[in-house]
Amino acid sequence: MKILVKKSTPLSGEIKACGSKNAALPIMAATLLCGGKCTLTDIPELADTINMKNIMRELGCKISGDCFDSSCVYSTSAPYEWVKKLRGSFLLAAPLLARLGRAQIPLPGGCPIGTRPIDLHLKGFSALGAEVDRYHGVVDLKCKKLKGGKIYLDFPSVGATENLIMAAVLADGETLIENAAAEPEVVDLCEFLQKQGAVIEGVGGNTIRIEGVSSLSGTEHRIIPDRIEAGTYITAFAITHGKGRVKNVRVEHQKPLAAKLTEMGVKVSEDNGDFLIDARGDIYSSNIKTLPYPGFPTDMQAQITSLLSVANGTGMVVETVFENRFLHIGELTRMGAMIRMDGRTSVIEGVKRLTGAKVEAHDLRGGAALALAGLVADGETEISDAWHIARGYENFCEKMQGAGANICIVNE
Ligand code: UD1
Repeated sequence: MKILVKKSTPLSGEIKACGSKNAALPIMAATLLCGGKCTLTDIPELADTINMKNIMRELGCKISGDCFDSSCVYSTSAPYEWVKKLRGSFLLAAPLLARLGRAQIPLPGGCPIGTRPIDLHLKGFSALGAEVDRYHGVVDLKCKKLKGGKIYLDFPSVGATENLIMAAVLADGETLIENAAAEPEVVDLCEFLQKQGAVIEGVGGNTIRIEGVSSLSGTEHRIIPDRIEAGTYITAFAITHGKGRVKNVRVEHQKPLAAKLTEMGVKVSEDNGDFLIDARGDIYSSNIKTLPYPGFPTDMQAQITSLLSVANGTGMVVETVFENRFLHIGELTRMGAMIRMDGRTSVIEGVKRLTGAKVEAHDLRGGAALALAGLVADGETEISDAWHIARGYENFCEKMQGAGANICIVNE
């Protein structure tokens, strides 16, 4: 799949964001914990969520429309063919372990943005009394009954925090997770678990206390809006010097991006839960460091780099979360961006003009960043391997077209 982008006029009008992919994946996994029916609304229709459903069906979960019925889950072994396609599949480890006493999960796939170890997940499972084994590329976790324990995460890993919370909600006794991730997706998972009957304190902070309960029950939940999808569209308005509105946004989740855009000269405001953006003036460079929430999100690093590539002045981006999240830089350089790399830091000298080129999406957000650059590059930009973009954005081209972007999918 390829995406073709032509230089576009400033975007205008509105774009609506979907439910969050990264909140939907752990919440879908958490439906396995209750052994009943859960109704989840606003799950985005994406390759990752479709693959997650496929894995869950293989485990015995019945899924129809928004309804997830895990009463008949029988298998503890997730199939490699699906698991390798998405990182989020490892979030099935905790629910299977907590509910069925065993989880056999092949090492997960996902974007090639770093080595992405799972040591923090495994250390945490051990602390809760699980036996951890690894062989032939599969992680095998076993327990009779998980027991509450104390866990200190070396880094506030989103996935490890989510897995360990899910493991602890059905464990015997109290679990304390320190240096936990506070991302909105972790909060959404906790709110879903609380609706199921879990007892969790400290939600949204870095210390989470969980009192295990004997069982959970089915419930209903609406997935939070996708802050990264929304952030990408906000940046699309900004890079084209456009003016418009992004709908279905939790404005408080956009604070780190909004603060940087304001610093760069873009006007942003809130209207009834919509995010308004007016980027018709000059845009100036800025220095950005990615950090765990509420810091600037690593998932917006590539897109903001595209914006800095055409801003006035020289800016700097330091990536502190993933060690190899710079695969888009070489491609942006092909389009005329002036970027120097030094370890985890990129120095971006804004240029007056980018030129369209044949480029390759190496990962999800890097691919989206190339599309943003294509909107302001002279001529035509052809992005190959654009399936990466489809992993995280529902109807990406259609939504951008709705705001006036000259962008389309070319199926080979
Ligand atoms: C999630 C998001 C991803 C986002 C990231 C950080 C999903 C499906 N993906 O990924 O889009 O970019 O959070 O906001 O929700 N680490 C370890 N050991 C571990 C786990 C993580 O060293 O056991 C390291 C990672 O290599 C990385 C850092 O911790 O350098 C952050 O990773 P983590 O927060 O776990 O990201 P994910 O949950 O994989």
